[in-house]
This record gives sequence, structure tokens and C-alpha cells, in this order.
Amino acid sequence: MPQKFERKPLLAPKPIDYLRISLVDRCNFQCVYCMPEGADLQYALKEHWLTHDEILRLLREVFIPVGFTRFRLTGGEPLLRPGVVELVAAIAALPQTQDLAMTTNGFLLTELAEPLYKAGLNRINISLDSLDEETFKAIVGGRGKSRWQDVWAGIQAAYKVGFSPLKLNVVVIPGVNDHEILDLAALSIDRDWHIRFIEFMPIGNDALFKHKGWIDSETIRGQIAERWGLETSNVTGNGPADVFQIPGAKGTLGFISQMSECFCDRCNRMRLSADGLLRPCLLNETGQIDLRTDLRAGVPLSELRERVAALRQAKPDINFKMRESGVTGAYSRTMSQIGG
Ligand code: GTP
Ligand code: 5AD
Ligand code: SF4
Repeated sequence: MPQKFERKPLLAPKPIDYLRISLVDRCNFQCVYCMPEGADLQYALKEHWLTHDEILRLLREVFIPVGFTRFRLTGGEPLLRPGVVELVAAIAALPQTQDLAMTTNGFLLTELAEPLYKAGLNRINISLDSLDEETFKAIVGGRGKSRWQDVWAGIQAAYKVGFSPLKLNVVVIPGVNDHEILDLAALSIDRDWHIRFIEFMPIGNDALFKHKGWIDSETIRGQIAERWGLETSNVTGNGPADVFQIPGAKGTLGFISQMSECFCDRCNRMRLSADGLLRPCLLNETGQIDLRTDLRAGVPLSELRERVAALRQAKPDINFKMRESGVTGAYSRTMSQIGG
């Protein structure tokens, strides 16, 4: 396991304008890094999920007025949310929406890529941790039929329909999929596909993290640079990835390095959970607001607006504290419950 914990120099804070909206806290996959087998996850009651109408009301009356204009729909698996295409159409139609993206495991995309695109979804990020069906099965779980074929077909469908940039997320786990780094990186050469290598974090499956450790982005970049060379690049995105490319490649390579190069100081996003909790940070609940309870209790929207604006203002300080503490601890919540 790499020992170093280097941090990039502090950067000027970015405007906090990116809201990740979790549509459902459940998932049809059980990725080893996210949900360990036998985990006793406490899911939100379905009646506690924000309705489409509540999500739209909060966007129109609270989030957009305080400065959020970029939205990403997440899960669990967002495509499990009934009526997701209609919700996408409604958010895309808000005049202030500058970017509307989704992070999905891709399993249901073959059917949904086209309707989502037509509804106005701008961009899509899909998890693809392996190109090998057996390794994939070992990572995402599931018995019987290979899910890799469905996910691969989903990626092709998203590409064909025109999603651009199309990003593929790889969580690199030593001894599980790290032997595929070059094969996965090579996907960016001939296609306009953007592969992102994510450092494995101790969230969700601490036992696996302790057993396998993690690989830092610098090591991954080193392997790729040795094979093809590597140069800095850029691609449309609101997230924390540092972007490079293989010289002459059509696509790019992103590195999400929360473990080795803490990016909390430039964190520009807040998260709304499926059951309506607004948290300022993936790993920190300071000042969390229960918007569902307040909304359903009839708290005036102007008051919610003030509270959200105050939390947004407090966030740079929370970012700074997160940067100071790092993310090397263990966390009991999973990414599926928080929204990735
Ligand atoms: P772009 O707008 O395309 O840049 O998307 P993104 O990178 O923000 O979204 P995506 O859902 O694809 O995020 C990829 C991964 O980055 C997530 O699954 C997490 O592993 C990690 N990530 C995103 N945001 C945070 C964050 O605030 N903190 C930490 N620790 N990790 C994050
Ligand atoms: N470490 C890093 N990324 C994770 N994800 C889930 N669990 C982890 C973890 N422990 C990310 C994956 C997936 C998204 C939903 O959450 O990138 O694509
Ligand atoms: Fe895998 Fe994402 Fe589902 Fe977690 S939420 S089990 S990472 S597909």
C-alpha cells in the first residue's frame, strides 16, 4: 500500500453550484467496494423518498435561487427510480439548468439511453471496473447470467445515442482489477470515451480496504505513461478528476485521487439524499438539513432557502476541515446510501 499522503497546494475555492441528487438509495448491483456481502444496510422508507414534485419544488424554489445550476442524478442506482425519464425531462426544462448528468451502473441503459437523451440528459458516467466477465462478476456480484454483457451493451447504447462526453468509472482494487489498468486506459485511444480511475476509499467495505489496500493515481499514471506517454488534457465535468490523455487519443483519462491528493479544498458539491437530507459533504454531516421533514411540515420555502444558503456558505470551512483530517478513516455509510 502506498505510504505517502501528499496534498496538492490549497486552491482557490470554486463556487458551490453542483448538486448531486440521489433518486433511490437501493441498487441492483452489490459492488464489493460499495456493499459488502451480508451488510445490514438500513434503507430509507419509500414513503420518505422525495416525490418528483418535491424535488422540482426544491430545485425551483430553494436550490436554484441560492446558486445551484449543475445537477447530477445518482443512486444507489438512479435508473431504478420509477419515472426517471419524466423527472429528467422536468429538470432539463428548468431554464436555469446548466448541466444535467447521471452516474449509473449502466445495467438498464440499453432500454433507457435513448429516452434519457431525448428527455434532455446532457452527460452520463457509467461504472466499468473490468473488461473481463468473471472479474466483473466478482466485483459487482450476481449469480447466473453475466451482467457485463448488459452493461457493455448499455455503454454502446449511450455512445450511439450521442452522450458526450461519455465517462467510464473504474475503482482500482489491488489484486482484483489492477492488472486491467492498461486495457481499460486503451479504451480511450480509438473512441471518444473518458476513462476515470478512482482511488479505492474506505467507505462501504472497510474489511476489503484493510485486506487489499489501494493504489494511488500516481502509480496508475506511471504505468500508463510508461506504455504510451501521458499529457495533461481536459474534458467537460464538474467533479474532482485530474484529466490527462494518451498522446493522440480521442478520449481522456481522469484520476480521482481523494486518498492521495485530497481535493476537499476545491469541493464544489452538496448532496441531496433520496429521503431529502441535504449534506454538505460525502463524509461529513455537519449542519445537515432534513428538507423532507421541513417541507412536509409546511416550513415556508423562504426559510428553507435561508437555511440552504447558510449551509452553502459554511461549506468552504467544512471543506477545509475535511482537507485537514483527510479521508483515511473508516466510514459505516456506503456510497449507495449517500449517492456516490
Ligand atoms: P463529472 O461532472 O463528470 O466530473 O462527474 P463526477 O466525477 O463529479 O461524478 P461521478 O459520479 O462520476 O463521480 C465519480 C466518483 O468520484 C464518485 O463515485 C466518487 O468515488 C468520487 N467522488 C465524487 N465526488 C466526491 C466527493 O465529494 N468526495 C469524494 N471523496 N469522492 C467523490
Ligand atoms: N471507493 C471509491 N469509489 C467508490 N464508489 C463506491 N464505493 C467506492 C469506494 N469505496 C463509487 C464508484 C461508483 C460510484 C457509484 O461510487 O465510482 O461508480
Ligand atoms: Fe455498485 Fe454503484 Fe450499486 Fe454501489 S451504488 S453497488 S458502486 S453500482
